[in-house]
Amino acid sequence: MITALRGTADILPPDTAVWQHVEQCARDVFSRYGFAEIRTPIFEQTELFVRSIGDTTDIVEKEMYTFPDRKGRSITLRPEGTACVVRACLEHKLFAPGKILKFFYTGPMFRYERPQAGRQRQFHQTGVELFGTYSPLADADVIAMMVRFLEHAGVHNVTVQLNTLGDAASRAAYRAALQAFVAPHLPALCEDCQRRAERNVLRVLDCKIPSCKAIFSAPDVPRTTATLSPAAQQHYDGVRRVLDALHIAYIEDPRLVRGLDYYTHTIFEVRHGALGAQDALGGGGRYDNLVHEMGGPQIGGVGFGVGLERLVIALRGAQTAPPQFPPDVALIALDARALQDNLTLADELRRRGLSVLTAYELQSVKAQMRQANSAGVAWVVFQGEDERRQGMVKLKDMRAGAERLCSLDDLLTTLCPQQIR
Ligand code: HAM
Repeated sequence: MITALRGTADILPPDTAVWQHVEQCARDVFSRYGFAEIRTPIFEQTELFVRSIGDTTDIVEKEMYTFPDRKGRSITLRPEGTACVVRACLEHKLFAPGKILKFFYTGPMFRYERPQAGRQRQFHQTGVELFGTYSPLADADVIAMMVRFLEHAGVHNVTVQLNTLGDAASRAAYRAALQAFVAPHLPALCEDCQRRAERNVLRVLDCKIPSCKAIFSAPDVPRTTATLSPAAQQHYDGVRRVLDALHIAYIEDPRLVRGLDYYTHTIFEVRHGALGAQDALGGGGRYDNLVHEMGGPQIGGVGFGVGLERLVIALRGAQTAPPQFPPDVALIALDARALQDNLTLADELRRRGLSVLTAYELQSVKAQMRQANSAGVAWVVFQGEDERRQGMVKLKDMRAGAERLCSLDDLLTTLCPQQIR
């Protein structure tokens, strides 16, 4: 038997209804904030991710699905969406001075990680990217939108972890402080961290190896907020002030750095208790140099990504009943000929917007009624020899329990009262 690859999953009904629900919530909430959908390809040139996410990050060093295509070009299945959106905006010349751009996207992402609950190799994100402003109002608005989206989907009580990496001067000062902290620990660090300490010291904080994690969770690990320039401090104060005004609760975590190199200033993560070890429901931040580094103008941006597998797990934890869409009508065939008559009637009803349950093979009335009941239909229509002779159908209102014979016109008026026929 051929099975799905490790770290990938089929999403089956009725779970697909929950997925449709969260995707619809994303569309509803993001569009209220003025974000429009963008769809970019699932694979890109490898270079795009190496340059944007950073060549010493875990994602680029260990987790990308990279392969040569038939012409020997290096291709990568997208591990995230931000780089793809920036590439698309540059390619289609969407950036312009003074212009705000707001995009959202939903789709599969790929990272070669060790699969466990809430962590897959093909997973799904819904994310947003906002370009064209350096204002801290934008950071706060995007964080608030993330929280409102999660609430709208049914996840409450999330915790927003907030931090800032500051501007270039702040980050240089922080790197120096972290380097000084790391130096005496160097011999105890894993090989990767020893290399990172030299090339990109911030990335030691992402290490998942327990002995390194222990060193980097010590209370004396430098805080990014200790080395902020006055301008960076002002930006951070602005973000917090607006979050307070919007009543978005947050916890400051001065050791949060997030595992992608493109961030500047604000970074944030949203966690949820139901997720266990993989507790980040989503995360994001500001990236003021990314567009420029990718060959575009100097344009600031801010965005986030939410993991949909994790959101669905959190919804289960929240005991939110998945939305149910029972069919409206079940058509019951009392003889073989009625099976075909029912298909014609179902066609009429479906064209008027009703959802209809029909059968292809004759079963006992009892078996057909059992299916209608378990589907939760509001109406049942019977057709058989007697009804045919009279040119009528028998209609049963499942809530009231009442049955009556009615003509086709009567049936359509009863079931589709607001339809103009
Ligand atoms: P990220 O933190 O790498 O950020 O991913 C965002 C979310 O995707 C995570 O919080 C998690 O819920 C989900 N996720 C990541 N990896 C996996 C996995 N292997 N399995 C299941 N879920 C996963 C980004 O990707 C940035 N592009 C976010 C961003 C947008 N920053 C600015 N704009």
